[in-house]
Amino acid sequence: MKSTPLGTRVVPISAGPGRLRLLDQRRLPREETWIDCLTADDAVEAIRSLAVRGAPLIGVAAAWGLALEARRLARNAGFDASWEEAASRLAAARPTAVNLAAAVERMRNAFRAAAGETRAARVAVLEAEAERFEAEDRDACEAMARHGADWLAQRLGGDPDSPVTLLTHCNAGALATAGVGTALGVVRALAAERPVTVFADETRPFWQGARLTAWELAKDGIDVTILPDVAAASLIASGRVSAAIVGADRIAANGDVANKVGTYGVALACRAHGVPFVVAAPRTTLDPACPSGAQIPIEWRDGAEVLLLDPSGDSPLSVAPAGVPALYPAFDVTPAALVDAIVTEAGVSVSPHAEGLARLLALP
Ligand code: MRU
Repeated sequence: MKSTPLGTRVVPISAGPGRLRLLDQRRLPREETWIDCLTADDAVEAIRSLAVRGAPLIGVAAAWGLALEARRLARNAGFDASWEEAASRLAAARPTAVNLAAAVERMRNAFRAAAGETRAARVAVLEAEAERFEAEDRDACEAMARHGADWLAQRLGGDPDSPVTLLTHCNAGALATAGVGTALGVVRALAAERPVTVFADETRPFWQGARLTAWELAKDGIDVTILPDVAAASLIASGRVSAAIVGADRIAANGDVANKVGTYGVALACRAHGVPFVVAAPRTTLDPACPSGAQIPIEWRDGAEVLLLDPSGDSPLSVAPAGVPALYPAFDVTPAALVDAIVTEAGVSVSPHAEGLARLLALP
């Protein structure tokens, strides 16, 4: 695999001292509008409403939101208490992606470690920590992309120049990270070497696949076709999919993977038809304190998001009879036994994942 940086034209965040701008992903692909966050609560709202989404990116947005909040509060009485409350609100904005809690914890540790310093110095410490957190995510994406592409090339075998067709669910791309993406980073690395076609599950009801994955891959010139979620199993059965690759919001110590609802069905279909099922995620997504998927908190969102087409758009359209409710568990858990490989920036875990993940976590 070549070592030139992969790069992407897709950048969903722009942040620095006193500045946090987020690409409003609810408006894509119709328009590219940006949200200027002025407070930590602006970042909380952007995360809750899915204006910014994807496990690694909500962590990075939270880190910058807390740096911003420290600068805003620096002249106020009750600086420490107000900042700590904002940190708690950010950590609670969404429950499933452990990256969010991990980011807030990193910022808390930095804030408390600088307790003896002036307020200006503490603000600078938080800004430096957010910058580092963002850069680490960017670097992790690059490393993951190469490990994943190498693993897939080896697993798929045959002519190294032959075309590959990858199926993905949700958006685990540049729009979900500070870099080239997790699953889509692997796609980018593979596409730099050989012809790659991507089938993007539409990913109802927020359409991360149809709206976001298709938009970002098309922007970077990677061949992508949108697939109704309900067609994934039959396409996998037909032999037209070389491998499925997805991201993750939280991976338990035993290798169970929480990701966007619908992922589990893709994994089942892959196993039934002998197609490799691969998860790509940075180590900030691993949660060794969570023994298995049963302990992963699953976010349930408002059923109205299922009943309406384009719920956050200018003219939402109802697709169901009035008065009929809908259930919306936003994530599901794929058992470790169905996951052929978990790709991280430190390397690849293959079954048994409990040992593989512990080994990867212990690496520097
Ligand atoms: O609800 P979302 O859009 O935040 O869900 C995102 C996913 O499920 C992604 O697959 C996951 O966060 C990995 S992103 C690199």
